[in-house]
Amino acid sequence: MQRSLLHSFRTTARLGASRTRLYSTGQHKYDTSSVDSQKTVSFGFKNVPEDEKESLVRGVFDSVASSYDLMNDASSLGVHRLWKDEFVSSLRPGRKGPMRCIDVAGGTGDIALRILDSAREKYADRETTVEVVDINAQMLKEGHRRFKKTMYHNTPQISFHEANAQELPQDKFEDNSYDLYTIAFGIRNCTSIPAVLQEAHRVLKPGGTFACLEFSRVNNPLLSAIYDQYSFSIIPLMGTILAGDRDSYQYLVESIRKFPPQPTFAQMIRDAGFFTGKDLDGGAWTDLWGGIASVHTGVKV
Ligand SMILES: C[S@@+](CC[C@H](N)C(=O)[O-])C[C@H]1O[C@@H](n2cnc3c(N)ncnc32)[C@H](O)[C@@H]1O
Repeated sequence: MQRSLLHSFRTTARLGASRTRLYSTGQHKYDTSSVDSQKTVSFGFKNVPEDEKESLVRGVFDSVASSYDLMNDASSLGVHRLWKDEFVSSLRPGRKGPMRCIDVAGGTGDIALRILDSAREKYADRETTVEVVDINAQMLKEGHRRFKKTMYHNTPQISFHEANAQELPQDKFEDNSYDLYTIAFGIRNCTSIPAVLQEAHRVLKPGGTFACLEFSRVNNPLLSAIYDQYSFSIIPLMGTILAGDRDSYQYLVESIRKFPPQPTFAQMIRDAGFFTGKDLDGGAWTDLWGGIASVHTGVKV
């Protein structure tokens, strides 16, 4: 992580004052939507002023962009690929004909590639499109470089756009225009989850699907203990060895623990105007590997 950014978040963190929306589940509370200038938000286990989080997160992904795919494979032992495969195949892109998709916080294009491959391989669909949106130009650059090696390069099926998930430019990302909105391992990095969900709701067509793959809450105490041990000791160490960057990977692990548990996030999705299934695994969300990750879906009503 860039030293100046890290220094800035270490020295300027202070406590927030007012609260306008509080999500609470058991011992966890998530304050999400105040715009008070004193408001702080979590950046990993630290609190930072709300208006600084975006540049800190940008610093993390600037720093990890070139090693992101390698580190993803190494730190998850390749499991992120299985989760992404399952995520995309559960959405069955192309089943009802070509779709217009937006993959937000799309990074290096893992989800976009799977959507296009899945639509083509299962439904012979070569018309589904994916617009990959990310706040970070470096991540998009890696994605663009990667797509050059695919059959989708230079076709209308794929495009890359630099934008903030919380405020997608309305002239480019119009209301009611997408069939499918995906966001994978991205929403926890955004300063305001409700703002992201509102934008997702705005750009989806009525009946369109919101689908989020994110690290989540492990309920089994034994699995949780093993997972904690692995995350906090192995992943930052791998970050040091493979990417020369311990701080960024420490942040990524910490940010997972700060993300709301499944029922709280499901409620946020409903509050944004989506219909979800019942509040249980197999309903509003589907746990993967005991909740290490989970898929939340909602339909725009
Ligand atoms: C962990 S990566 C996930 C990338 C990809 N979706 C995947 O699954 O491999 C998180 C991505 O979220 C992006 N991101 C963070 N905050 C964002 C925001 N406010 N708007 C759009 N993208 C954001 C980062 O730049 C980064 O590319």
